[in-house]
Amino acid sequence: MEIPWEKISIAPMMDITDRRFRYFMRLINPRVRLYTEMIVSHAIVRGDRNRLLKFDAAEHPVVLQLGGDDPAVVAEAAKIGADFGYDAIDLNCGCPSDRVESGNFGVCLMRMPERVAEIVAAVHAAVKIPVSVKCRIGITGEESEAGLIRFAENVFAAGARWLTVHARTATLGGLSPKQNREIPPLNYEMVYRLKEKFPDREIEINGGIKTRAQILAHLGKVDRVMIGRLAHEDPFFFAPGFPADINTRLHVLDRMGAYASQHEHADVGAARFFSNMLNTFHALPGARLARRFISEEGRQLRPEAAVSALKEKMVAMAEMTDAAGQTD
Ligand SMILES: Cc1cc2nc3c(=O)[nH]c(=O)nc-3n(C[C@H](O)[C@H](O)[C@H](O)COP(=O)(O)O)c2cc1C
Repeated sequence: MEIPWEKISIAPMMDITDRRFRYFMRLINPRVRLYTEMIVSHAIVRGDRNRLLKFDAAEHPVVLQLGGDDPAVVAEAAKIGADFGYDAIDLNCGCPSDRVESGNFGVCLMRMPERVAEIVAAVHAAVKIPVSVKCRIGITGEESEAGLIRFAENVFAAGARWLTVHARTATLGGLSPKQNREIPPLNYEMVYRLKEKFPDREIEINGGIKTRAQILAHLGKVDRVMIGRLAHEDPFFFAPGFPADINTRLHVLDRMGAYASQHEHADVGAARFFSNMLNTFHALPGARLARRFISEEGRQLRPEAAVSALKEKMVAMAEMTDAAGQTD
C-alpha cells in the first residue's frame, strides 16, 4: 500500500534541513511537509533575515520552526516568517540541548504550559498561517500523562492547529542531544492515548519510525507521522513508488546541480553543497564510492561539475555490476 505522503513530515533537524536539503527532499517527494531547522526568534528579529529565511517556492509546504520563550519576540519572528511565505509556524518545545535550556526554551518550556500558551496565542494573533507545537512526552523524572494532557490542552486552547509529539522524554543535564534521541525509551502508547483524549485535534507522532509498515500502523492511531533521521540516512525511502532506481537518483542530483548554479550557492564546492545528501545512493551498488567521491574530489569541484563526473562513475558501476550479476 502506498503511503499517504501528505500525512508525512520531514522533521526539523539542525544542520540538516537547510534550504538545500529541503529542496532535495522536495525533488524526491512532492507532497511531504518540510520543516526548517530550528531558528532562534531573536536571530530573525535582529539578524540577517534573508540568510536565515529565504527559500525556494518549490519547497512548499514548508514550516518555519522557531525557538524562543518571549511571546512578543516569537510573534515578531513569526510575522517576519509569514511575510517570507512560510506555510506554518512551529514552536520548538522538544530540544534538550544545554544551550537551548539556558535560553529557557526548547523542552524546558514543557514545564511552563501557560507560557507556551501565551506564545502560541501571540503568534496566532500575529499571523494568518497555522501555528503548531513540537514537544516530547515530558522531561525525564517529571513526566506524567496528566502533564502531557495539560500541555496539549493549553496549546490547543491557545490556537495551535496541530501538536507533534516526539514519543520519548528528554533528559536534562547528563545526556547530549544525540543521546537524548536514543536513550530515553519510546512510548508510542502515550501518544495514542493523547489522540484518544483529543479526537478532534491533529496529533502527529515522531521518534524512531523507520519502515513503511510502521508508518501505516501509526496512521491507524494518529493523524500524521513525522520522520527525522531516516530522511538523512536514506532520503530515497521517501520516493513514491520506492525503490527508486539509479536513474531516478541521478536525475535528482542533476536537478540539484542546476539548483546550485541558479541560486546563491554557485560558489560553494560540491563537498559542502552535497554534505547532507551523501546517502543519495543508499544501499545501491557504488553507494560508498559516491560518498567518497563527493566528500573528497568534491572539494575541488563545483556542484554541477561534480554531478557530471559522478554520473559517469555511477553509470559505469551499474553496468559493471549488471555484467557481473552482483550487487554491492
Ligand atoms: C541532527 C539533528 C538535529 C535536530 N534538530 C532539531 C531541531 O532543530 N528542532 C527540533 O524540533 N528537533 C530537532 N531534532 C529532533 C528531530 O526533529 C526528531 O524529533 C528526532 O530526530 C526523532 O525523530 P527520528 O527518530 O525520526 O529521527 C533533531 C534531530 C537530529 C538528528
